[in-house]
Order: sequence, then C-alpha cells, then structure tokens
Amino acid sequence: MFTLIIVGTTLVLSVGALYKYMTANQGVFKKLGIDHPPTSWFFGNAGLAFQHGNFDLQKLMYKQYKDHKVYGWYDMRRPVMIIKDLDMAKDIFIKNFNNFVDRYQIFDADPPFKDNLLSLSGNHWKHVRAAISPVFSASKIKKMSGHIERNSKILLENLRQCQETGQEVELKDICSNFALDVIASTGFGLEINTQRDPKNKFAIEAKKVMNPNAAIITLIYFFPVVKTLLTALGIPVLSQRSLEYFAELIDQVIEDRKKEERMGTVNDFVDLVMRAEAESEQPSVKKLTRSEIHGQALAFILAGFETVSTVLSFTLFYLAMNPECCQKAQEEVDDNCGDKFPDYDEVQSLTYIDMCINESMRLAPPGFFNTRICVEDTVIHGVQIPKDMVVGVPVYAIHHDPDIYPEPEKFDPERFNSENKASRHPMAHLPFGHGPRSCIGMRLALLELKMVLVTILQQLTPVPCSNSVFPIQLSRMHLKATNGLWVKFIRRR
Ligand code: HEM
Repeated sequence: MFTLIIVGTTLVLSVGALYKYMTANQGVFKKLGIDHPPTSWFFGNAGLAFQHGNFDLQKLMYKQYKDHKVYGWYDMRRPVMIIKDLDMAKDIFIKNFNNFVDRYQIFDADPPFKDNLLSLSGNHWKHVRAAISPVFSASKIKKMSGHIERNSKILLENLRQCQETGQEVELKDICSNFALDVIASTGFGLEINTQRDPKNKFAIEAKKVMNPNAAIITLIYFFPVVKTLLTALGIPVLSQRSLEYFAELIDQVIEDRKKEERMGTVNDFVDLVMRAEAESEQPSVKKLTRSEIHGQALAFILAGFETVSTVLSFTLFYLAMNPECCQKAQEEVDDNCGDKFPDYDEVQSLTYIDMCINESMRLAPPGFFNTRICVEDTVIHGVQIPKDMVVGVPVYAIHHDPDIYPEPEKFDPERFNSENKASRHPMAHLPFGHGPRSCIGMRLALLELKMVLVTILQQLTPVPCSNSVFPIQLSRMHLKATNGLWVKFIRRR
C-alpha cells in the first residue's frame, strides 16, 4: 500500500511537473494580443503538423489568418511568431537585421561541425561570413566551372545510357549523386565519382550526416533539454565518426596542397580559403581558425548538396510535364550555346532557363520555412516582438498564395519574366532567403543548375513515362515526392 502511495504520488508530481514545463510559455501570444490556433498542453500546436503535414498545414494556417499581419504558433513549448505580412518580413530580414541576426535551430552543432555558418550566431557569424564571402564572388565562382563541366558530362552520359536502353529514370537519386560530386570537387578538389560509384566513402559519410538518428532528433524536438543532457554526457547527435572523417579529410587536403605547393591552382573551396589565409593581411578580416574551416566545409556539404539536387530534379520533372516550356528552354539553349558547354557569361544570358528554375523553386522551395531569433525587444509595423522570440516566414505558403500567384499549382515560368517579377513584392519569392544572412552559395547553385540543365537539354528531352505521378504529391514532412520523380529521356541529336 505504502509503495502504491509513493508510486502514485511520484507519478502525479511528475505529470504535474511535465505539464508545468510544457505549458510554461503558453499565454505569451495572448499577452501580446496575437491570435493562434487552439493548443494542446503537450504538443502546443505541433499536433497539427502531424495531422496535416508541413506543407498543407502552412497553407491552411496562412489562409485561416489571411487578414492578419502575424499569427502565433506553439512549436511544442516554443512560441514562434509567424510573419505573414511581406513588408514586416522585409524589415526583419533587412532593415532591422541587427536585431534578427540568428537563425532558430532545434539543437546546437557539436565539434568539428560547431563553427559552421548555418548555425553560428551574432558577431561570430558576422566574422566568419565576412571571411568566407569572397570565396563566393562571381570571379571565384567562375573558376569553379571546370568542376561543374566534368560532372555535368558524366550525368549526361548516364542519362544517355538510360535513354538508349529505354530505362525510366527516378530523378532524385541521379541528381543527388551529381550534386554530391560537384560539392566534393568545388569544395575539396576531390573526384569522388558518386555518379559511377555511389558507395564511395565520401558519399556514405555525407549521407550519414544528412540523415541523423530520427529517434534522437524527435526526442530533442519534444524535449530540448535532452540535447543539454547528451552534451553533458559527451554523446553527439550527428554521426561523430562521419564528422571526424570530413575534418580529417579537409586537414589532409590542406596538408597535401601545402606540400605539393599547389595552392592557387585548384580553384575549390579549400584552395580559396588557403589563399584567403595567406593573403588576409587586412586587419578587418581575421583568418579562419581550423575549426571554422572544418565547420564551413561541412556546412557546404549539408547546405549545397540536398538543395541543388532537389531543385535540379524538380525542374527537370516540371519540364518533362510541361513540353511547351521544355521546348522553349531548348530553343534558348540552342540559340545561346549551340552544341558546346556554356561558359560563365553565356549562362548569364539564359533568361528562360532562369525563369524555369525560379518557378520550380517557387513550387518546391528547399528552404520552405525561414526563421530568425529576435535579440532585443523590437516593434515592427506596430507589432511588438519580444527578445528571444523566434519569428518564422512561411515561405511555402507565400509561394502558393493565389493572390500573389494566380493558379498557384501551375508551372508557369512566365511569372518570372522581368515585367511580372518587377510587379511583385520582393519578399514574395524567397528560395534563397533574403538580406545579409541569405544563402551564400546562391551564385554557385544557380551556375551549377544552369550549366547542367544546358548540358542535358542540348542532347536530351525529358518526357513523362509510365511511372510519372503528376501533380506531384509531396511527402508530409519533407520536400520529397512520395512517388518519386520519374521521367524518360528522348534523344534530340
Ligand atoms: C538551389 C540550391 C540552394 C538553395 C535553394 C539554398 C537555400 C538556402 C536558404 C533558404 C538559406 C537560408 C537563408 C536565410 O536564412 O535567409 C541558405 C543558407 C545557406 N546556404 Fe544555401 N541554398 C542552396 C545552395 C547552396 C550551396 C550550393 C551552398 C554552398 C556551397 C549553400 C550554402 C549555404 C550556407 C553556408 C548558408 C548559411 C548562410 C548563413 O547563415 O550565413 N547553399 N540556403
């Protein structure tokens, strides 16, 4: 009996403590006079995401709070202010940037990934961003074209083989292997050749980092305190072995280059960082530490591989499903590039291909929800945003707003001709984010996407096949087509 009382009391106290912990922040939006969906004590509003899936939910909430500038959202126990008003979003990302420098993340990264640009905050982020930015200047990116050309040609060869045997192609995997090869060569000068050998060590370790243990991530999402506990116990969240593999690989590449005196000849990230190290006599830009170099190299793999492969696969799929757009894109390629691989300047003149990529990223933006953290009480357009509040911009819902984009599910690259683009709010299209913390790899990504699209479209036409499922059905939580992105290729020449 006594044991039963002890167990019962402990249970009641534990549930009470859990209830208090989970509901501690509920009430924040009421105090601020901001509407939000009804909450449950444990999930806050997160239960709705499980019910509807990320994408339908974003659209649903956006419609429900149509006339609101902002609305509230409890991501479990964490209040997130959703910014619907595009002028407000612009002020947060640009004008008031200094109060919104940091991005919200579920957990802090562990070494050797700790000092990466994606998750750095405040002045540390500013210093690393300033040191790394020159690596992504137009002139430096231009020199990376050779790496893109080599890998685009391998992709074309693989697609040609599929075309010759009449094989249907699931685009995501094939584009993913291409994007990884480009990151390995533009990042580290490595020819890992995932397109021919998908099981190479670099690819296996990169995929492990990209796919962390789902159970641990879910646990941290429900109870952020779990991360603190794991850190105290020395247990990393991302595969430590994989992170160390990359850190050692980078060190090895740097040492080899120093020994062989090849600095300045390879035109990849490592090369440019080493040159920046040597040249950086300007006191304003301090050198990067080795830990910061590791962090950036890993950030480039994480940020530049899945994103590019998603955009490439969706763009090819949309072109296959919209033959008149594909034909127009091919005409532009023929007129501007003929049969040869395009150089940097030719790529800049491909306006229709650019429109197709933008339309594809509107429909399927890899960064479908963008966040910042408020570091100081701020009032924007009459809305009070308290210190530490996470603010989020519902990119996917904005991109599918019928008032901004009539017939939003239709693939229509003309939405991005110069006239239509100029008539829209600058924050109505946010595939690369906005402001000083927008995607640092945008130029490289666009160059890569355009070069590889030209290479494919010069020789092949993507068309629907028996496995194609269109309209695309997105997975509930990730930007992935549940039935894959299947096409067939027809030879042009
Ligand atoms: C089509 C491909 C890509 C898309 C759609 C994309 C999208 C994004 C988005 C939405 C952000 C957040 C921006 C913000 O918070 O305002 C971001 C940040 C970032 N991206 Fe990309 N990205 C792409 C390719 C790349 C590539 C190729 C690289 C590197 C080689 C890269 C490196 C980064 C880094 C390092 C950040 C963090 C920047 C910072 O916090 O200062 N991205 N990207």
